[in-house]
Amino acid sequence: MTLKIRRMTLDDVSDVVALEKICFSSDAWCADDFIYRLNFASKTGGDGFLSLCAEADGRFCGYIALYSQLGETNIDSLAVSPEMRNRGVARALLHEAERLCRPERIILEVRESNAPAKSLYESEGYRVIAKRRGYYDLPPEDALVMEKLIKN
Ligand SMILES: CC(C)(COP(=O)(O)OP(=O)(O)OC[C@H]1O[C@@H](n2cnc3c(N)ncnc32)[C@H](O)[C@@H]1OP(=O)(O)O)[C@@H](O)C(=O)NCCC(=O)NCCS
Repeated sequence: MTLKIRRMTLDDVSDVVALEKICFSSDAWCADDFIYRLNFASKTGGDGFLSLCAEADGRFCGYIALYSQLGETNIDSLAVSPEMRNRGVARALLHEAERLCRPERIILEVRESNAPAKSLYESEGYRVIAKRRGYYDLPPEDALVMEKLIKN
């Protein structure tokens, strides 16, 4: 498999939204959420929005959406197509995001029951720093806040 990580474009939005619906159902972002972020995207990978897509053998298979400010990057969304999971796609998206954003700190929220995502983040050096009670709806669930500190 040839894996390529590249910047998301407006042409990717329909694929991204379809994957959002599969992964997050009730919490899924709509096309306008991604279009807004792409219209205000960072040109450099520094402060602002950054959205990346993964392609396996030329086919869309995942994405990550981030927001960076003053050395801190938030992972706002990350998903990989079900048929392409467990092949290192999410890890590759995280690595490219770190390379481009060069943050000192990365933070994110994850559902407490989301074992694959927690395992991914832990294997990448993130640790739980807080719990946000009732953060998610449908089904209601607490969020774990995870953090990674990076010395650049
Ligand atoms: C979480 C998710 C993004 C992982 O994507 P992925 O491409 O399958 O992850 P990778 O193949 O890069 O896995 C990297 C590491 O994550 C962990 N991991 C991934 N899937 C796992 C699973 N099902 N169970 C346990 N650990 C898992 C492992 O530590 C793995 O490392 P290893 O392969 O060396 O064991 C994917 O399962 C997904 O899209 N889930 C639905 C959306 C979601 O939950 N997004 C995160 C919201 S915070």
